[in-house]
Parts: sequence; structure tokens; C-alpha cells
Amino acid sequence: MVEVRVEQLCTDPELYIIRIDDGKIRYFEATWDIPEGITYNSYLMKLKDAVVLFDTSKAEYADLFMDALKKLVDPKEITHIIVHHTEPDHSGALPKVLEENGYRAQLIGTTFARNLLQGFYGDKVVENFKVAKDGEEMDIGGKTFRFIAVPWLHWPDTMITYVVEDRLIFSCDAGGGYGIPETIDDSDEKVVEEYLPHVTKYIVTVIGHYHKYIVQNIKKLKELGIVESARMILPGHGLVWRKNPVRIFEHYERVGAGVPTKDKVLVIYDSMYGFVERRMNIVIDELKKLGKNPIVYRFTDKEVPAVSDILGEVPDSEALIIGASTYEADIHPRIRYALFEILDKANYEKPVLVVGAFGWGGVAGKKIETLISRSKFDLVDTVESRGMPTQEDEERLREGVRKLVSWIS
Ligand code: FEO
Repeated sequence: MVEVRVEQLCTDPELYIIRIDDGKIRYFEATWDIPEGITYNSYLMKLKDAVVLFDTSKAEYADLFMDALKKLVDPKEITHIIVHHTEPDHSGALPKVLEENGYRAQLIGTTFARNLLQGFYGDKVVENFKVAKDGEEMDIGGKTFRFIAVPWLHWPDTMITYVVEDRLIFSCDAGGGYGIPETIDDSDEKVVEEYLPHVTKYIVTVIGHYHKYIVQNIKKLKELGIVESARMILPGHGLVWRKNPVRIFEHYERVGAGVPTKDKVLVIYDSMYGFVERRMNIVIDELKKLGKNPIVYRFTDKEVPAVSDILGEVPDSEALIIGASTYEADIHPRIRYALFEILDKANYEKPVLVVGAFGWGGVAGKKIETLISRSKFDLVDTVESRGMPTQEDEERLREGVRKLVSWIS
């Protein structure tokens, strides 16, 4: 189901959110399973001599967006449209807005944003485009709008807007998450607790490839002194942060840095006929004996977890254990894909134990070792053997887990 929510966030300045709740989407970026859905947030600020729109929505929902916008303002009265990021989940409805605006509004964004909009929607859309330089301030409707580049969060075009007098940070993707929270803002702790894991999953799947820039860019914003004193952080997805605005950026920092949750060990494996699973049961038993909390994702003939969910578990794990069958002289295809995405999107300095099972020849373990050795992860050990695990295999597996745990400690 798709719904639109419009709420006034404050009276001074007069600020509204237009939130499209997309419960229809299944695969964000045609890749990431998100049964939890997503919201696309746009904001409208009415000032004395200006009406400012911050981003828009997805093209698919342009009519829904326009109907909601028209309840707040005649689109012809919009004087400025700030384009923080041009990915079409935020810019798709822009051509429609401009058409109904009569192309009166001035667009503001980075040079990259201008070029991308031109490529996506044609020359007319960028006829009245003003490039904002990093740190540049503009007086709009009597307020000081400061534009701050935050490149690679997660495209090169990305910037945020800080409204100086009101201490408002409009942050688009940065500070966003998957999910359709019941509330508009972070006032309900239960909603926040349920939402934050969706934020982690969003960060890893969408921004993860560039996760070092999360830490860099938030450091940059902190050094500008605008985060600690922010009155609200207003992202392009999910909750608005006004009870505790700094909390969302602190969460982003923790995910970006891969700060672990004590004792959490992520266990991922495939098992076609139970040979790998027997090994993993030994591994899980040993982990529990050592006081660890294994979080298990298994690919079997009865279950196939979403790789996007696995990715969301990596940043706060202390360590990973990967179990794989050898399949046609390679890594089992499900683990091969999961591993490819982990190494691309969630590449952290964390220890890894590799477990393998094979029929006529062991290849998966060696191939995983090679991939791990080229990543930031640290290979602790590989325990790979044929068919049913023997008593000796069990000893090697338990020893491998003990090595992994001592590596963490
Ligand atoms: Fe929400 Fe990168 O777009």
C-alpha cells in the first residue's frame, strides 16, 4: 500500500513534511529486499518572501506528491527547490513540480547534481539552476541557508542544507533508513528501537560501498559545530529527528566504523544435504559454550534469507563464520553472492572463520580464503573436509571457534 502523510513540523519557521509511505516496493534499487518498505520525505518551508521545497519524490508517485503539495501551496508560488541528491527516489517528481510551477523556481544544488538532473530529465529542468559551493551561504526569505557538500553519501552530488537561524539540518539520504515508522519523528522510543535496525540495513546496502565517507562526512559536520546544537535533522527517508537529533548521526558513525555489539557473531552458511549444517551446529555449540551470541542465516532447500538482511548484521558483529559447500569446483552460488556483497558493501576489519564441506574435491574454502585475504577482514582459520564430519573434524572446528574467540578478545 502507498500512502501520503503531510504534517506541520513547526510554526517558526512554517515547515511541513510530505512523506510518501511506500509499502508496495519490494526491492530497493531493484536489488535489496525491503519487506519493511520505505518512505520518501520532502519538506516545504514557507518564509516571508520565499517558498522553499527540499527534494521531491519518486516519479511513480508524482501525482500523489503533487496532490499533497497542492494542499500546502500553489506550486507556482514555490521560489526555490533545493536538490540535495539526484537519485530518482528524490528527484523523480521534480519535472512534474517544475511543470506545474511554470519553471519559476530556482534550483539549488551541486555541479554534479546539475549535470545529473540534465542527464536524467533534459535541459529545461536545469535552465534556472544555481550551483552551491561547499560552505556557501545564501539569504532566502530572510534566512541563511548554508550548503555543505557531503560527497559519497552516497553519490558525488550529495549535499546537505543547514538553516542557520533555526539550526535545521536537511540531510536527504544521510540520516535516513528503510521502514515505514508509525510516527513522523523520534518521540516514541519503541518506534525508534524498531526502526534503527532498518537504518543499519539501509546504510550498508545503499551507502556501504562508501562507508568510510560516513565517518569522514559526519566528522566534517561535527567540526562545523552544527550537529550537537541541531534543533532537527530532517532526512529524505524515515524518521525526523527532533527529540534527540544527534542520535541518528551517532548511529551512522557506529555503523560506518563497524562498532561491534558485545558477543554477537554472525554465522552464514549454505547446506544442500546437511553436511555443512552438521559442521555449523558444532560451531554454534562451541560459540554458545564460550558465551557468544550466534546470529545465524542459512541457505538450505527450505529457506533462503535476504542478502540485504545479512548485510545489515555485519557492522555490529564481533566476527563472522562462513560455511560453504564446494559446488561445481567453486563456492556454493548463494554463499558466493552473499560473500561478494559483504566484501563490497560491508568490508570491515573483523575476524573470519571459514568452514567448508565437499564431495570429491575441496575448492570453496580456498576460494573464500583468497577473497578474504584481499579484503579488510582477517582470516583466522579454514576448516574444510569431505562429507560427514569425523571426530577429528569436530575437534578442528571447535579449535577454530576457540581461535576466533581469542582473536576477538
Ligand atoms: Fe534515497 Fe540515494 O537516494
